[in-house]
Amino acid sequence: MFSKIYSLGLHGIDGYVVEVEADISQGLPGFDVVGMPGMAVKESRDRVRAAMKNCGFSFPVSHITVNLAPADVKKEGAVYDLPLLLSLLRAGGQLSLSLDGMAFIGELSLTGDIRPVHGVLPMVLAARKAGLHTVFIPQANAAEGAVVDGITVYAAEHIKPLLAHLAGEKPLVPLEKTAFRPHADESTPDFSEVMGQVVPRRAMEIAAAGNHNVLMIGPPGSGKSMLAKRLPSILPDMTREEALEATSVHSIVGELPADVGLLSSRPFRAPHHTVSPVGLTGGGVVPRPGEVSLSHNGVLFLDELPEFTRQAMEGLRQPLEDQTVTISRASGSLTYPCSFMLVAAMNPCPCGYYGHPTRECTCSPQNVKRYLSRISGPLLDRFDLHVEVPPVGYTDLNAKTKAEDSASIRARVNTARQVQAERYAGTRVRTNSQLTPALLRRHCALSDDAQVLMQSAFDRLGLSARAYDRLLKVARTIADLDGSEVLRIDHLSEAIQYRSLDRKYWRSR
Ligand SMILES: Nc1ncnc2c1ncn2[C@@H]1O[C@H](COP(=O)(O)OP(=O)(O)OP(=O)(O)O)[C@@H](O)[C@H]1O
Ligand SMILES: [Mg+2]
Repeated sequence: MFSKIYSLGLHGIDGYVVEVEADISQGLPGFDVVGMPGMAVKESRDRVRAAMKNCGFSFPVSHITVNLAPADVKKEGAVYDLPLLLSLLRAGGQLSLSLDGMAFIGELSLTGDIRPVHGVLPMVLAARKAGLHTVFIPQANAAEGAVVDGITVYAAEHIKPLLAHLAGEKPLVPLEKTAFRPHADESTPDFSEVMGQVVPRRAMEIAAAGNHNVLMIGPPGSGKSMLAKRLPSILPDMTREEALEATSVHSIVGELPADVGLLSSRPFRAPHHTVSPVGLTGGGVVPRPGEVSLSHNGVLFLDELPEFTRQAMEGLRQPLEDQTVTISRASGSLTYPCSFMLVAAMNPCPCGYYGHPTRECTCSPQNVKRYLSRISGPLLDRFDLHVEVPPVGYTDLNAKTKAEDSASIRARVNTARQVQAERYAGTRVRTNSQLTPALLRRHCALSDDAQVLMQSAFDRLGLSARAYDRLLKVARTIADLDGSEVLRIDHLSEAIQYRSLDRKYWRSR
């Protein structure tokens, strides 16, 4: 006999419907799984066999063929245990229920417990898109299942209550949909603790408002790491759509805490400098998104940038430009999103005091040069804001008045993002940093006097075409923070100030 049950799979961060077909026929007992199953899927049969026996069902002693359709996409993970069990029960005549329009996902224990799986959120989204009306998911993934509206989602811990529900004996209660409430992560420290540092603080505000990449450079103990760690507290609220995308990436790698259905604040990732290129940009034998994708719609912070391997740093160039990472394998290619704000911090030399106003640098000129040259020109070019973080003065540290707190900065950032959202409505652009050349020309037109300034800066700073575009984008954000639709000369001159650092450190050597 033959049976077909719907399940769901993952391709990149997108879910798709999988048909789990089982056929039980006469012949030598055997169990074949076809349809490009991965290792975990092949092992499914042993789990399913044990779960069936331990729950009082008999495992068919016949030739079993299981097909996972579509057959041309590699199926990974143990999500097909549950649909496979149901398919076998139906094909063997032990279950005679109509399961049309329903999808099932879940790994099984040998005793029939339904264990959590990765990627529930994108899979349930795909089920809704495909027009299925109900999805059954593991209890431990209930928070994720409750996020998607427009589809009925049930969560079960064990196959027995699930079967009792299907038989109409003891109905399960569908998951109640949770509302999306974006908010800043309360555990993030506050900007009010950062004394002095007026320019770096302002640069962080601009970066947050326009989603710009920032490079901070300065001596030890000046507050670079401190500033970066406080960045999440001023990042704008995520829209629901952004939250769904970011959560999907975390969901497919199983990095979502059990009680979190949808990330409520932007991701902030700070990988150690020993991270491998694959860990940073994604890949691997079983492809997995890297830190760049886990930072999607949030921040990737690279502290002590020159300590990262050259390969890891250079691997960032393409994702920074394209905002997606494509991983090619013999079995097909996968694309992960990675629209992130890159924030990096570094000392100007190995001893850390090159360019310090009072302390002498003990490095030889060659050593300083070698240290700085670890950051390649193309990578440097991708930072919109280059910020010098000078040592903090005694008066600043002991100031009586507290510095401005994160909530006030965040309010301005949110307003500037709102302006951008309205201006770019109907396009794929969300922030100034993502402006396409056509939109850039339309929304970043310079006044005559600003053009004169731009020309002189272009020649003096030796800007690349990319740096020129990025300069205009930063100026646009400064104007947005200022509530001005017109891009004035003062907006541009502030933006230029954040491009002058590479001249001091990189070009003067
Ligand atoms: N602007 C500041 N206001 C108040 N405290 C500060 C400031 N800058 C630094 N500090 C103090 O110094 C400590 C070290 O700062 P932080 O780790 O940010 O330095 P850093 O610039 O990252 O140095 P390194 O280059 O060595 O990594 C902070 O934890 C804080 O206690
Ligand atoms: Mg530091």
